Amino acid sequence: MTDALTASPAGHEQCAREEAIIERVLRSFSQCPDPRLRQVMESLTRHLHAFIRDVRLTELEWSAAIRFLTEAGHITNDNRQEFILLSDVLGASMQTVTLNNEGNGRATESTVLGPFFVPNSPHIDPGGDIAAGATGTPTWVEGTVTDTDGHPVAGARIEVWEADDEGYYDVQYDDGRIAGRAHLHSGEDGRYSFWGVRPTPYPIPHDGPVGALLEAVGRSPVRAAHLHFMVTAPGYHMLTTHIFVEDDPQLEVGDSVFGVRDSLIKRFENQAPGTPTPDGRPLGGRPWSRTRFDIVLAPE
Ligand code: BEZ
Ligand code: FE
Repeated sequence: MTDALTASPAGHEQCAREEAIIERVLRSFSQCPDPRLRQVMESLTRHLHAFIRDVRLTELEWSAAIRFLTEAGHITNDNRQEFILLSDVLGASMQTVTLNNEGNGRATESTVLGPFFVPNSPHIDPGGDIAAGATGTPTWVEGTVTDTDGHPVAGARIEVWEADDEGYYDVQYDDGRIAGRAHLHSGEDGRYSFWGVRPTPYPIPHDGPVGALLEAVGRSPVRAAHLHFMVTAPGYHMLTTHIFVEDDPQLEVGDSVFGVRDSLIKRFENQAPGTPTPDGRPLGGRPWSRTRFDIVLAPE
């Protein structure tokens, strides 16, 4: 790969002028008392200037970028985080997750948190229903929480949250509902189970500048169907992940935030109306589905 200097159509003198700016900016961080901050700012400077020089950024494009960031700021509030969405669609969130959760062969893989986790979710007992009115096909989810040697992890806190079959999380409605989210604990044998709804694909919020960017580049805002998990237990690395639905066609098309990992794709078995449920829950002749997700926590 050629670097920005050698690839530049600018003459030698112009290249030297461009390089001089980078050197000056780098020197401006030389008194930074925090070595990590200095490292980050110096690297950011090098990469940012390399990008500007690589694409020979025009002043109009620079203005458009500033306008884009300004719009992202204006649409961001306590319930809407456009900058996280931007990080997500650029794959920066998934890259950060990946390098901070280095594969521990046997442990469950991580994926993006997303913007819809809410702390202090309702507690449910084993076998409880997280849907609490969220619409969708009832789905029984069960599995175990173990360590990487297969020993049960008792009392792990399992947070789960998901969109309804309209593609919306509770917090996207303005009626204050709490639905499609809860937390429960693994039992002494590490087992857990709950009812939720079968995940369906949904678009990330795309009525802002990030949506406009996706449209301009011909990309879909749709995420592959998934159910979020966050699992914590003393002595173990916190796990933030999702499970995906094996026969979801969106898996072929692609996930708009690059969150899919093969190991997280699970079979959701459709059950015909009238099929007895694992806990005897009456479903009034509705179809339902079931899946299994065994969670393996890495040591801290
Ligand atoms: C989500 O899964 O909830 C999500 C993740 C990234 C961006 C938007 C939504
Ligand atoms: Fe989600």
